[in-house]
Amino acid sequence: MKTIHHQTIIFMFMFFPCIVLAIDTITSTKPLTINQTLVSATEIFELGFFDPGNNNLYIGIWYKQIEPKTYVWVANRDTPVTSSTGILTIGENGNIIVLNQAQTAVWTSNQSVSNANTVAQLLDSGNFVLRMENDENPENYIWQSFENPTDTLLPGMKLGLDRKTDVNRFLRSWKAKTDPSSGDYNFKMNIDGLPEIFISTDMKTVYRSGPWNGKRFSGVPEMKSVSVIEFDFENNSNEITYSFKVLNSSVYSRLIMSYSGTLERYTWVRSSNMWSEYWFAPRDQCDGYRKCGPFGYCDANDSPVCQCMKGFRPKNQQAWDLRDGSDGCVRNSELDCGSDKFLPLKNMKLPESSKAFVDQSMNLSRCAAICKSNCSCTAYANTDITEGGSGCVMWAVDLFDMRQYAESEGGQDLYVRVAVSDWDQTPTIGASENGSSNNVAKLIVAITVGSCAVITILLLLFYLRRKKMQRLKNSSINRKGPHERSQDFLMSEGINIVHSKKEYSSETTTDDLELPLFDFTTLTIATNNFSDENKLGQGGFGCVYKGILIEGEIIAVKRLSRTSGQGVEELRNEVRLIAKLQHRNLVRLLGCCIEVEEKLLVYEYMENKSLNTILFDKEKSGRLDWQKRFHIISGIARGLLYLHQDSRLRIIHRDLKASNVLLDREMNPKISDFGMARIFGGDQTEAETKKVVGTHGYMSPEYAMDGLFSIKSDVFSFGVLMLEIVSGKKNRGFYYANNQLNLLGHTWNLWTQGKALELVDESIRTEFSKDEVLRCIQLGLLCVQEHAEDRPNMSKVLLMLSSDVVNMPQPKYPGFCLGKRHHDVESSTKHDESLTLNGVTVTILDGR
Ligand SMILES: *[C@@H]1O[C@H](CO)[C@@H](O)[C@H](O)[C@H]1NC(C)=O
Ligand SMILES: *[C@@H]1O[C@H](CO)[C@@H](O)[C@H](O)[C@H]1NC(C)=O
Ligand SMILES: *[C@@H]1O[C@H](CO)[C@@H](O)[C@H](O)[C@H]1NC(C)=O
Ligand SMILES: *[C@@H]1O[C@H](CO)[C@@H](O)[C@H](O)[C@H]1NC(C)=O
Ligand SMILES: *[C@@H]1O[C@H](CO)[C@@H](O)[C@H](O)[C@H]1NC(C)=O
Ligand SMILES: *[C@@H]1O[C@H](CO)[C@@H](O)[C@H](O)[C@H]1NC(C)=O
Ligand SMILES: *[C@@H]1O[C@H](CO)[C@@H](O)[C@H](O)[C@H]1NC(C)=O
Repeated sequence: MKTIHHQTIIFMFMFFPCIVLAIDTITSTKPLTINQTLVSATEIFELGFFDPGNNNLYIGIWYKQIEPKTYVWVANRDTPVTSSTGILTIGENGNIIVLNQAQTAVWTSNQSVSNANTVAQLLDSGNFVLRMENDENPENYIWQSFENPTDTLLPGMKLGLDRKTDVNRFLRSWKAKTDPSSGDYNFKMNIDGLPEIFISTDMKTVYRSGPWNGKRFSGVPEMKSVSVIEFDFENNSNEITYSFKVLNSSVYSRLIMSYSGTLERYTWVRSSNMWSEYWFAPRDQCDGYRKCGPFGYCDANDSPVCQCMKGFRPKNQQAWDLRDGSDGCVRNSELDCGSDKFLPLKNMKLPESSKAFVDQSMNLSRCAAICKSNCSCTAYANTDITEGGSGCVMWAVDLFDMRQYAESEGGQDLYVRVAVSDWDQTPTIGASENGSSNNVAKLIVAITVGSCAVITILLLLFYLRRKKMQRLKNSSINRKGPHERSQDFLMSEGINIVHSKKEYSSETTTDDLELPLFDFTTLTIATNNFSDENKLGQGGFGCVYKGILIEGEIIAVKRLSRTSGQGVEELRNEVRLIAKLQHRNLVRLLGCCIEVEEKLLVYEYMENKSLNTILFDKEKSGRLDWQKRFHIISGIARGLLYLHQDSRLRIIHRDLKASNVLLDREMNPKISDFGMARIFGGDQTEAETKKVVGTHGYMSPEYAMDGLFSIKSDVFSFGVLMLEIVSGKKNRGFYYANNQLNLLGHTWNLWTQGKALELVDESIRTEFSKDEVLRCIQLGLLCVQEHAEDRPNMSKVLLMLSSDVVNMPQPKYPGFCLGKRHHDVESSTKHDESLTLNGVTVTILDGR
């Protein structure tokens, strides 16, 4: 590309030397023909006719130095010059006009101009302006392209309402890659209530930015991390607008409403001569507009992503369980107005606020008082979070399109009205009660917890003593692993456990498997009364707590929420299913507890949390040397093979990813989260599903596009995971530098160039087995091949992993190789890997 460009310049220099002289103005006597361009003073932007590839001519502006041409503005997007020649000039009435071959105007700036002595100039900002030739104030524009945006917002351009002219400026996408005519998507500010910007089509709304909170849009936490770009939101008597500026003039940044429906911000990276995608939206399934219905909120770090606030339950439990949250949540108890409480939620994207009531002068306590006294007020929040918060926004409608961010990401506090009967003292999602009325309750909790602790300590001391004596008796005969110790404990508690000591497939052979039943009190003590300190995470069906049994064994306890749709019978089935799946590389279920109100599952505790917390953390990834990584890869492969073939229930995991691989103390991998797995009859290997569940970046093409899943879609995910383990990089991460290619594409390129070893994670570069690494990369590529039938099954994978004599086939082109391909996936299936490295995703089978 670059060489062609240079040749063109040289060519043009030889034959059209006049073009190279930078001319930035046109007048009625100096028009612009199709062979000429205007160039801004310091040669940043260029304006002229161009053909985007549809054989029509358009007047456009692009970056002069950048190839391939990046168009930032198009004049006659819907009225192209269809003839082979055209002219841009100043018309008789002083307006800018575009004439076609027949000398008819296809486009005009259409202003009323007092006299015809006007000139049009291309400025270094990329603004094309019309002004009087001898105006004392050269910034007195009659017309400017910045006020007539196409699909791109440049620094200094303003999006939103100009109160003087009552024009609400917005971006509208191109129709297609080679067609600049008005496309389907627009990015437009809704100025009602608290202004927000929406991506929408004529048919539907796709995405909402959330209101401006003084620093950034409530739904775009990433805006805070951009240091060289300054965002601005104005609401005054002249305008309600959003704009940005770039603090370093040699940095180019642009925001574009792309024809595929995503809003994308790019910055130009000089060193690599390419646009790097800084940010895009919708970014994950939680960005999908009204994803979780009224009163539901979306948490991308949770599974399922849709959650009900405390005091609410899913309106349609069945759909909810199938991960369709669009019906939202309903209140457990009716409101009573006077006695209602306000539930504080942290790190929230504020609900849709076009119908909200706003008063910028009110403080939060006043806001709270007014909302409490008005029975139709459902929630309130600060409008501005800078300087400790100010302003008041109140909702008297259903709350839509909320999401919760991880602590470190962003969001703000939101207070939601709930009935006092749904309010109890156990803190909920990030809630921190800070009212004097609850001091009594706090005291009671404190006393309860305190006395529990004392009892626990006493019991602990007693048991430790007893155990120590027992162990002294035993240890000379028999040294035991941690798992057996725990079973010792279970048996000493009078629990019957059937277990096998076979290492690989310890599936039990009897159907009437008995699962250890735990006493609720035992678990209460173990988890310190399910205290917050012990909480490991929260998932769709409840919370997971770390627990320490009296004997010292550490467990993970999943407490299914009372509102969860899991009936006793369903739970039994699930427990039976999990209990039957026993393998060294699957997270093990140790027991359960089903009492009247309480349903709990007990899992082995995994010291090293999930693989992603180590692998993708630069500080920690060095702890995984090549040997360990290979060990992890093999372990996952064995676990998956077991699920696919060796267990009598044929199980497809459907959401295999780094965060679903847990590591024990010795860094042995164990697969968790079978929440989405479907049980298959003996010979059924492929099924169709309407609702695609899974994680973007790990989903195979046929699954993401057609909802077709099979053991081969798991193989695809495994391939991705394997390449991630080798490279230490996420297949699709927000911060992945080369955005045109994801990890798969990158790997493919290196592989075809014979440079595959460059993929290896820098932190293990010093020592690794070349052969093993190459085998893993080749195998990874074989697993992610576009066509499912080309991919090996897991038994082949294991065979190829474990021996170097097998002749491995050459991989074909991988599926989903381009980072950009995600546009094709239906929005409900988008789900980026969580950005927070310590985020704990917990789902039904997840034990930590
Ligand atoms: C533009 O250049 C082409 C050759 O490159 C020439 O044939 C044509 O006449 C030129 N058109 C104008 C309007 O100057
Ligand atoms: C020019 O503007 C007037 C009103 O300002 C409008 O009625 C007319 O249609 C416009 N003409 C063109 C060609 O856009
Ligand atoms: C915007 O500004 C106008 C006038 O200054 C004011 O009346 C209005 O309340 C403001 N709106 C918001 C959401 O701040
Ligand atoms: C502006 O950016 C360029 C290139 O990114 C860099 O070399 C230069 O130091 C920056 N200037 C300032 C003032 O930060
Ligand atoms: C909030 O505003 C009210 C009056 O509107 C005032 O009485 C109160 O002191 C303010 N509270 C704080 C914490 O500033
Ligand atoms: C309560 O709030 C609603 C919506 O903001 C408003 O229409 C209504 O007038 C308020 N009622 C009272 C009594 O203030
Ligand atoms: C609770 O209130 C106190 C003062 O009343 C304040 O200092 C503290 O920051 C508040 N805590 C939270 C979490 O809001």
